[in-house]
Amino acid sequence: MKYTHHNGELTLKNLNESVHLKGWVAKVRNLGGLLFIDLRDRYGITQLLCKPENSNYQTALKIRNEYVIDIEGLVIERESKNKLMHTGDIEVDITNLTILSTAETPPIMISDESDALEETRLKYRYLDLRRPVMQNYLIKRHEITQSIRRTLVESGFYELETPILGKSTPEGARDYLVPSRLYPGTFFALPQSPQIYKQLFMVAGFEKYFQIARCFRDEDLRADRQPEFTQIDVEASFIDEEDIQNVIEKLMKNLFHDVLNIEIETPFLRMTYLDAMTQYGTDKPDLRYDLKIQNFTNTLKPLNIPLFEGKEFVRSLRIKNASSITRKRIDQLTELVKKNHGDALAYIKFADQALTGSVAKYFTPDVIKDLNLSDQEMIFFVPGTFENTSSALSSLRIALAEELSLIPENEYKFLWVTDWPLLEYNEEEKRYYAMHHPFTAPKDANVLKNDPKHAMAKAYDIVLNGYEIGGGSIRIHNQEVQRLMFDTLGLSKHDIETRFGFFVDALKYGTPPHGGLALGLDRIVMLMTHTSNIKDVIAFPKTQSAKDLMMQAPSEVDINQLNDLMIKVDKS
Ligand code: AMO
Repeated sequence: MKYTHHNGELTLKNLNESVHLKGWVAKVRNLGGLLFIDLRDRYGITQLLCKPENSNYQTALKIRNEYVIDIEGLVIERESKNKLMHTGDIEVDITNLTILSTAETPPIMISDESDALEETRLKYRYLDLRRPVMQNYLIKRHEITQSIRRTLVESGFYELETPILGKSTPEGARDYLVPSRLYPGTFFALPQSPQIYKQLFMVAGFEKYFQIARCFRDEDLRADRQPEFTQIDVEASFIDEEDIQNVIEKLMKNLFHDVLNIEIETPFLRMTYLDAMTQYGTDKPDLRYDLKIQNFTNTLKPLNIPLFEGKEFVRSLRIKNASSITRKRIDQLTELVKKNHGDALAYIKFADQALTGSVAKYFTPDVIKDLNLSDQEMIFFVPGTFENTSSALSSLRIALAEELSLIPENEYKFLWVTDWPLLEYNEEEKRYYAMHHPFTAPKDANVLKNDPKHAMAKAYDIVLNGYEIGGGSIRIHNQEVQRLMFDTLGLSKHDIETRFGFFVDALKYGTPPHGGLALGLDRIVMLMTHTSNIKDVIAFPKTQSAKDLMMQAPSEVDINQLNDLMIKVDKS
């Protein structure tokens, strides 16, 4: 053993024991000659003491923050105890001290509170990761991964790997490409997900597969998106939607029990896509608070409010106790609504028996009476199409919930969103896109053939506290239906042949009915550790502009490497 205890361990139970510790120096204090050193490792902090008469004193004086040291010493009781620390009752009087490694002053403070810029933190990520709060994120990530692996293995799933160098997979984002040296002018694509491979595992007869899979997507980044992220990718044969959902519910139940000691209730709530959009304006509603969208179109029609004239819908959010919402705040909310495709934001407010607000003057006494408003109640109205009012009101809903502190911190509200449309129509391009991906089975292949607009999918998303944490579907296992799907998506015979020929071929040779799902591991870790920034839970993440600041990647490469690949860069 290279040490006897770690630094989060010693208490009064160890009094008078000789111990051997190692770690980083978190802090040195010199109190009238007495040196107090906080020694840190991944488990915690132990206070060390070195008095001037100690033979190690001269060495101790040299110690600075972040030096790595090795000490032997005697556990003694502290005079002034720190009740907030597990080791706060004791300190270790040094009997032997060795400096293992010196350190320059780090560019960021190694403590939970950091005022360092994100850029500095990412550039010196190895120091950022020394901060206990960051270590906790990654340690939780480890625990989460282990729990998920355990449930899936115990449920009979094989953990199998699939290639990183492959062909473009249709998940809807841009691919990261890797040029081939041996076949100049040709490229591998990094997987946006292992979708095709996992379906081929089913064709091959493995029946139940999972993988903790790295995925790569060149898309616009957000607080919950990284270009390189991890999925818990699952696929199984001879199952239906319920079976997959049951496996995932069991996985989540075990996960929250194992990692947070929380018992979550299953089965999770199920809601159709249409209900989610109608009631919450989004396909990933946060159900920790109520605040549903109401449709006021018909109620308001007779009032002939000019702002709503000719609008297909007027939908609204109604909030009680709105006294904190000022005119200035309403201006900000109007900006938010417009940024999210809303045509406009109108409102009424009932206070001190009077109705005020931008459209209050149009409200007749009868309508006001029917609304049955309580004091300090407000109604916000957004006119427009169903899609635009949904998008605007779902962001307004979140802003209002935050404003009125409606969001309980420690609650977890899971939801399955089901009954998705199979396709979405792009007006500009005059073509259909797959809402999930083109391997998702239609509920009824005849509808896909005759009335694609109304085709529904055997697809499901799992949502937690307003985040999409996973999505999946039952797949097409019939070659004809798969071809029909590709046709509907406007892929030519040639496209199908060059992009998915091998896959359509595979469906010829006996394909079991199958389906699956992929969970976003990073998002799950975010939610379970209560951070809203996905970078916190990824050891070496990219910036919002898809750069690795520590490695300085992407970077230019040697001209010889480009020559090998027969690539010429034209920056003009
Ligand atoms: P989908 O594209 O919905 O489905 O991805 C599954 C889950 O992965 C997470 N996710 C991301 N997390 C971080 N950064 C990103 N850029 C990112 N993109 C997606 C989300 C999402 O719910 N092949 C299908 C799954 C299937 O059908 O089995 C797929 O990849 O949490």
